[in-house]
Amino acid sequence: MGSDGTKLAIIGAGAVGTAIAYASLIRGVARTVALMDINAKKVHAEVLDLSHGLEFVPRADVIGSDDVEVCRDADVVVFTAGAKQKPGQSRLDLADSTIAVTKASMPGVLEVAPDAVYIMVSNPVDLVTYAALKYSGLPRNQLFGSGTVLDSSRLRFSVAQYCGVAVQNVHAYIVGEHGDSEIPLWESATIGGMPLTAWEPLPGFDPLDENARNDIQHDVVSSAYTIIDGKGATNYAIGLATARIAEAVLRNEHRVMPISTIATGAGYEGIEDVCLSLPTLIDRRGAGERIRVPLSDSERQGLIDSANTLRDMQKRLGL
Ligand code: LAC
Repeated sequence: MGSDGTKLAIIGAGAVGTAIAYASLIRGVARTVALMDINAKKVHAEVLDLSHGLEFVPRADVIGSDDVEVCRDADVVVFTAGAKQKPGQSRLDLADSTIAVTKASMPGVLEVAPDAVYIMVSNPVDLVTYAALKYSGLPRNQLFGSGTVLDSSRLRFSVAQYCGVAVQNVHAYIVGEHGDSEIPLWESATIGGMPLTAWEPLPGFDPLDENARNDIQHDVVSSAYTIIDGKGATNYAIGLATARIAEAVLRNEHRVMPISTIATGAGYEGIEDVCLSLPTLIDRRGAGERIRVPLSDSERQGLIDSANTLRDMQKRLGL
């Protein structure tokens, strides 16, 4: 807790970290937003630029430094530091370097913010979350990853566009790896309260049949590659998604979100000892109960396959 109220600290003032800061200010997520980056000149410039917009957002202060001291007493700490995905590169390709950065930076942050809820965003976020839990010794609730909150938002957007309804009327999850093996849960999805699998197309719109669902799944899984190829990074949607997760913590919302958390004990066979995304209750203590949504046989197998992909990578990395 900062001196005047809640404090959100963001490690890494790159495209993602600053987008999270920007989105958090607009949503009034925290009274103090602190940016930390090893590049002092960059973080100073970002703080100045963000501060010049404070007149237009709910009351907040923005601070920043290359010194971890700037994160002291934060209520939520977001980790975005790590290598950037290059065009054609998978998130898993970033594992060695990003996990090394996380391992090196965690102790210093934990010292100044031992009671914070930690949200890992750096990719590959599931492996980074697993490694950070191991290095920090924090309990499962206190450290989790942004996971497939963003992917689920991409899925909801695509379904909403295809069906001609507002994205807020689509409730659907992507679970598993935040990456190529992620899977959509069509069976439990709803549109305007209607089961998605029973959705009748509106006049002028096509049926949401299996081919359409497969096309949407392909578009969602390949979204980041498309955006990175076009503009070099993704930042706005992950910024909004992460700001929303931090808000659910700071406002004790008891909101169900598909964040990346230890899957052991979640009630599904074959996904133990990895971090992957499952619908989870988010409140001021962080990641709470995992919600057991019904899975079809193919969805269950997809979740197991995703867990196996992550477990294989954990073995290769010696985690
Ligand atoms: C993406 C990054 C955050 O999916 O992994 O845009």
